[in-house]
Amino acid sequence: MSNDKIVQIKNLSLIFGKNTINELKAIDDFSSSFSQGNIHYIIGDSGSGKSTLVLHLNGLLKSSTGDIIIDDIEILGKNKKIKKVKQLRRKISLVFQYPEYQLFKDTIYNDILFGPKALGTPKIFYQDINLKNIKKSINENIDMILVTFFEKFEEKVDKEFFLKEYKILKWKFKNNNVTLKLRIKNFSFKVSYFLKENLLNEIEREIGKKYLNKMGLDDSFLERNPFGLSGGQKRRVAIAGILSIDPEILVFDEPTAGLDPSGEHETMEIISDLKSQGKTLFVITHSMDQVLLNGDTVTVMEKGKILLTGNPYEIFTNPILYSKTKMEKPKVIELIDQLVKGNSKFKKLYELKPTNDKELISCIIQILERKV
Ligand SMILES: Nc1ncnc2c1ncn2[C@@H]1O[C@H](COP(=O)(O)OP(=O)(O)O)[C@@H](O)[C@H]1O
Ligand SMILES: [Mg+2]
Repeated sequence: MSNDKIVQIKNLSLIFGKNTINELKAIDDFSSSFSQGNIHYIIGDSGSGKSTLVLHLNGLLKSSTGDIIIDDIEILGKNKKIKKVKQLRRKISLVFQYPEYQLFKDTIYNDILFGPKALGTPKIFYQDINLKNIKKSINENIDMILVTFFEKFEEKVDKEFFLKEYKILKWKFKNNNVTLKLRIKNFSFKVSYFLKENLLNEIEREIGKKYLNKMGLDDSFLERNPFGLSGGQKRRVAIAGILSIDPEILVFDEPTAGLDPSGEHETMEIISDLKSQGKTLFVITHSMDQVLLNGDTVTVMEKGKILLTGNPYEIFTNPILYSKTKMEKPKVIELIDQLVKGNSKFKKLYELKPTNDKELISCIIQILERKV
């Protein structure tokens, strides 16, 4: 198996209410693998096991039957407990059906930062924070740095030396400790010291702001109570909190449920945006138009099993999908089917694979002008 398969699920089964009259096989010998950097849609009727499946991915559910391998983390059925739970949660985050229910702190800031605080602030953020904070800290610690510097170079430098001219060559964080490689004029030297608690707070604040802004809310929201927000805003805050963990893989379980069309559109933009940042995405949805629009793969579930897998065009042109599930045709596919009924030359559209209205129209024009 090629190693771009970031998630592998092998023979996963899950029974609810085992040995009771309510016994139900929610996941039934599910095996599949999913490549990195793609948007993987999971669709299927209500109750087909979609949510149950994805709850296994970050260990919220653990089955004793079947194995899941997520990058370098193994969740093995034979082990009672998941090893490396923290790493797993940092690698893969779940955005629940109604993410706003995940909000529970007094301020939006604390809500956004809850994940990173619990799981450890991801290193990447330190690099993201502009050097302003670091420079400020250096200025605050200037005496100490000067001492280090002069101890080392006493013989060689003129004491009128102007520290303001320093350049940071390299910097490394570990916990609250920062090691900097500085250059002043021709001399480079290393200095290491503990960050003040408030600098760490400041870094975290920057993280909070960054993700809040990314989700279209300005800094003024940071100190507000999340419960005063509108539904759409709450959802954005909840997603900001998940993004702030900077997971490699994100799972969205019906992220647009209950949102108005503009909220739906925004959420889809977020998902496409995350893909362009190199993230791997799993999305459960009932909006077939969205699946067609940006899906790389589609897995159709039925009674805990895979009914079909393929790319969106393969899935949406397969009659089995419509006979075995209640899934509706994406609008674009429906239009193509109608066009083909009227004139077989439009069959070409199945090869051209338009994914939205605009593309469909331009493909139709090309066919009419005999350019394809
Ligand atoms: N915690 C649970 N206890 C018992 N049965 C459950 C539980 N969660 C889900 N189920 C059942 O498992 C099946 C699959 O549910 P789910 O994964 O939520 O489906 P989907 O997300 O595709 O709608 C359904 O029949 C559901 O009623
Ligand atoms: Mg569900």
